[in-house]
Amino acid sequence: MKREPADVLVALYGRMEINERFSRAAVFGASGGIGGALCEAFAEKGISVWAGSRSGEPDTDTSRGFKFDLEDEDSIASAARIMADDPPDLIVVASGVLTLADGNGPERSFKQIDANAMEEVFRLNSIGPALIAKHMLPLLPRDRDGLFAALSARVGSISDNRLGGWHSYRASKTALNMLIRNFAIEMKRTHKRAVVAALHPGTVDTSLSEPFQTNLPDGQLIEPPEAARNLLNVMARLRPSDSGDAFDWKGDPIPA
Ligand SMILES: NC(=O)c1ccc[n+]([C@@H]2O[C@H](COP(=O)([O-])OP(=O)(O)OC[C@H]3O[C@@H](n4cnc5c(N)ncnc54)[C@H](OP(=O)(O)O)[C@@H]3O)[C@@H](O)[C@H]2O)c1
Repeated sequence: MKREPADVLVALYGRMEINERFSRAAVFGASGGIGGALCEAFAEKGISVWAGSRSGEPDTDTSRGFKFDLEDEDSIASAARIMADDPPDLIVVASGVLTLADGNGPERSFKQIDANAMEEVFRLNSIGPALIAKHMLPLLPRDRDGLFAALSARVGSISDNRLGGWHSYRASKTALNMLIRNFAIEMKRTHKRAVVAALHPGTVDTSLSEPFQTNLPDGQLIEPPEAARNLLNVMARLRPSDSGDAFDWKGDPIPA
């Protein structure tokens, strides 16, 4: 994608606070460890929050709750209709699964692949976010900055994959990253200032990572409020020329 001169971009975005670019956030997955912390971090910055979850309960006193289920397109379409009167300029997909609700965990070997479990992981981690994009991207502003960010994972990088394993989760995040690139290309035609990006939050202490925290090097596990602050910093600095790419919590690009 065409890059803009670095000095212009630094002047434009380098020192910006998130609330100087965005005023309304919609968080899909507000009941999650990272999603909940994001809602609080946005509210602290004075950004009004639409907080989406399966229960529909607002995450904080100040956020407005909405209901959605990744496996129910009608619920996503109706959430978008509810938000259309006061549309977000910042949309975050903070939902996702590593271990399924029935306890089916990530595969260590191809011998453990189960078609139904794999299908479910793709429905939740790839197709659900795509349906959110389908109904929410049209709400982003055309005349000013807009951001659609989906929480992906570094393990979705093909070129960075040296450990293998977690077949369904990895592949579902790779698929998500490809969809992000596709949507960025499409959005560029109508929304010149919109950014569509995948973000890796780091290894965060949530129920998703909890079963896999035992052998982590010291200092690698971060708490959700810190992860949210890191992600806000990255979001504040993303430029239209970054659209379509994946970034980690430091703002460094993740190779495809
Ligand atoms: N934690 C990490 O170390 C880490 C690392 C890399 C990437 N990530 C990514 O970050 C994202 C958030 O993870 P997390 O650690 O915050 O996990 P979490 O605490 O388990 O939160 C997961 C969220 O997904 C929602 N969700 C699951 N199934 C859903 C469905 N059918 N419809 C609607 N929402 C559904 C959950 O809602 P309910 O409360 O209703 O179940 C919850 O809000 C995921 O995409 C994950 O892959 C996390």
